[in-house]
Amino acid sequence: MTELRDKIQTGLRIGNRELSSRFFLAPLAGYTHLAFRVMLRRLGGLGMATTDLVQSQMLVSETRKSLELVATCPEDNPLSVQIYSGVIPQLVAAAKWLEDRGYEGIDINMGCPMAKVNGSGGGARLMCNTSGATEMVGRVIDAVQLPVTVKMRLGWDSDQLTAPELAAAFENIGVAAVTVHGRTRQQGFGGNVNRSGIRETVQAVKSMPIIANGDVRTPEDALSMLAETGCAAVAIGRGAMLDPWIFRKLQDIETGQKSREPTADEQVAFLSDHFTLMAEQHGDYSCLLFRKFAAWYGATLGIPEYLEDRLRRFESESEFRQLVTEIRQRHGERESTVATALIKVPNGPVEHW
Ligand SMILES: Cc1cc2nc3c(=O)[nH]c(=O)nc-3n(C[C@H](O)[C@H](O)[C@H](O)COP(=O)(O)O)c2cc1C
Repeated sequence: MTELRDKIQTGLRIGNRELSSRFFLAPLAGYTHLAFRVMLRRLGGLGMATTDLVQSQMLVSETRKSLELVATCPEDNPLSVQIYSGVIPQLVAAAKWLEDRGYEGIDINMGCPMAKVNGSGGGARLMCNTSGATEMVGRVIDAVQLPVTVKMRLGWDSDQLTAPELAAAFENIGVAAVTVHGRTRQQGFGGNVNRSGIRETVQAVKSMPIIANGDVRTPEDALSMLAETGCAAVAIGRGAMLDPWIFRKLQDIETGQKSREPTADEQVAFLSDHFTLMAEQHGDYSCLLFRKFAAWYGATLGIPEYLEDRLRRFESESEFRQLVTEIRQRHGERESTVATALIKVPNGPVEHW
C-alpha cells in the first residue's frame, strides 16, 4: 500500500507533458464533451482527458460537428484529441491540422468496435495488422512534434491478443503512451476486463507508460487496477459518469485526506454549471443535447420522475433555471441509484454494430 501511495503521489510524464495525477478520463463519445471535461477539472484530481473520437477527414474538412468535438478552452488542459482513420494520409493530415492550431496531444483510436469505424480499416481493425498499424502510427509521429498516444483493446478476439506485441512495436517508434481497454473487440462491452492481459502489455514494454482502462467504478477499483497490472496510469470512462467526484476522491487518497462525498448542494451546482457550460458553447441547442443526461441526473440526484421528465423536455435556459430551483427542493426524494446501464452501449452481436 505504501508503494502504491508513493506511486500515485509521483507525477507522470507523457511526451513533453508533466501530469500531476495518474487518473485520466477515457473518452465516451456524446458524454465527455468540453462542458463535462471542464466540470471534472473544476472538481480536481483529473490528470488528463481525451476528446471523443473525430474522423480525420471530417476534421480536416472542418465540418461543424468535428469542430464542436475538438472545441476546447485554456481550462481544458492537459488534453489529447482522439482521431481515427484507416487511411494514412488522412490521419497525418488531421494530426498536422491539430498541431497547426496549437493542440498539445494526439491520440489515435485503435479500440473502437463499431462497424462504421472498422469497415474503413480504422478503430480495432488496425490491431489485426501489427506492421500496418505501426507504419500508420509511425507516419503520424514523423509528421508532427506533438506527443502521439494510442488507445486500443487487448486484440480483435481471444485468439488474437495483439496488445503486447503492438505496444512493444509502438514504443520502438516513439509512441508516448498506450491506453489499453482490457477487452477484445469481440467482447464489445460484455464479459470481464482481463487485467492479466493488461499486465502482459505492461510487461512487454520497457518504459513507455501503459494506461489501463475498463470497468473502474470506484477509487478502490482504480487502486487495484494500478496494483494488479503495474500500469502507469488508469483511464476512467463510465465510472466518471457514475461518480464525477471519483478523481477528487482519488486526489484525497493521494494527499492522505479522508475522501469527501459531494454534498447535495454540490451535486445540484454540478448539474446547473454543466448546463451553463453547454449553453455557452451550443446556445439554445444545448436544451436538446442535455436530454442525454436527464436519466443520469434524475437517478443520481434522486429527483421525482416528473422532474426527470421535465429535464428531458425543457426548451429554454429560463425553464432550466426554474427546474433547478425545484430540484433543489425535491432532491433526494427518490433513493439515488445510478446504474452504469444508463450510459448506453451498443448491444446485440458485435458483428452488427
Ligand atoms: C458511450 C461510449 C462511448 C465511447 N466513445 C469512445 C471514443 O470516442 N473513443 C474511445 O477510444 N473509446 C470510447 N469508448 C470506450 C471507453 O473509452 C472505454 O474504453 C470503455 O468504456 C471501458 O472503460 P470504462 O469501463 O471506464 O467506461 C466509449 C464507450 C462508451 C460506453
